[in-house]
Amino acid sequence: MKTEELRLEDLDPEWFIEEKVREISRTVGDGSAVNALSGGVDSSAVTMLAHRALGRRLRNYFIENGLMRDGEPERIISLFEGMGIKVELVRAEERFFNALKSIIDPEEKREAITRTFYGDVFGKIVRESGARFLLQGTNFTDIEETVAGIKRQHNVLEQLGIDTEERYGYRVIEPLVQLRKPAIRRVAKALGLPAEIYDRPPFPGPALATRIVGEVTPAKVQTVRAATKIVEEELTSVGAFQFLAVLHEDKVTGVRAGRRDYGQQIEVRCWDSADAKTASPTRLTYDILDRLAERITGEVPGVVSVTYNIAKKPPSTIEVV
Ligand code: XMP
Repeated sequence: MKTEELRLEDLDPEWFIEEKVREISRTVGDGSAVNALSGGVDSSAVTMLAHRALGRRLRNYFIENGLMRDGEPERIISLFEGMGIKVELVRAEERFFNALKSIIDPEEKREAITRTFYGDVFGKIVRESGARFLLQGTNFTDIEETVAGIKRQHNVLEQLGIDTEERYGYRVIEPLVQLRKPAIRRVAKALGLPAEIYDRPPFPGPALATRIVGEVTPAKVQTVRAATKIVEEELTSVGAFQFLAVLHEDKVTGVRAGRRDYGQQIEVRCWDSADAKTASPTRLTYDILDRLAERITGEVPGVVSVTYNIAKKPPSTIEVV
């Protein structure tokens, strides 16, 4: 079934919320559902919609996949608990790192994450809880890019012909599939989420694995996580659509304290975009770039080179994987 976009200019957030709350209630009936919260604007909006529809019949899970940003699981769980919504943390780092071992190809990495997330992790949660539904924040752009064969977004399943009931034992409910990011932000605001959520730059489901070229290992995640923290601290005030750090696979020769230092390379990307479909690098000032280079080479162990991406999407994409 083809999904039709509901455009920002045609969206009445209050009507949309009522409609989706009704739809979720009707679909789940008197059963229960589980919800995958990552803390992004999309899954946060779904959490609010499903909480309204199902109350205590909804169980929310934050999956610690070992690929998240610094302090993220704790921050998101406590933010939702502050709004009276309980979220359980599922420690699944080892399962994800095992699934990613030795994989270099980007689409295979995405596939391994999808399999682990929906099969191993949520398959088990759903089996144990007796729920028949999984709620998640897939959006219109995710589907469009996957169906077009650009990138297999980790959360697109049924649109690729995957029968989730047969494969994983549950049905997937995706209340936001008709909306792009700006419309989802409007809905998130109308749902009473704080600005730190509804204004958040996008962050991909496969998390920092989309920002590591080559094999994903705990050590590489630690490096890109440290660089990401600096990039976010330095670039949040710029107001760009999205900004990130990428860890490259090739090492290069550097010099530190007069001695050769064969080290890693971080690429910084900062994007201006309306909906992630097309994007251009933000024209950052040289002072900002200089500070990023100083901090990343000074504070992230092993990094001797910092570059800034100047290519547009297309032909580039926002994440490297
Ligand atoms: P790309 O890299 O395809 O990214 O230009 C477009 C937008 O989508 C985000 N992204 C994802 N979001 N699951 C998600 O939920 C994914 O697998 C995924 N891959 C990319 C990316 O951060 C950007 O905002």
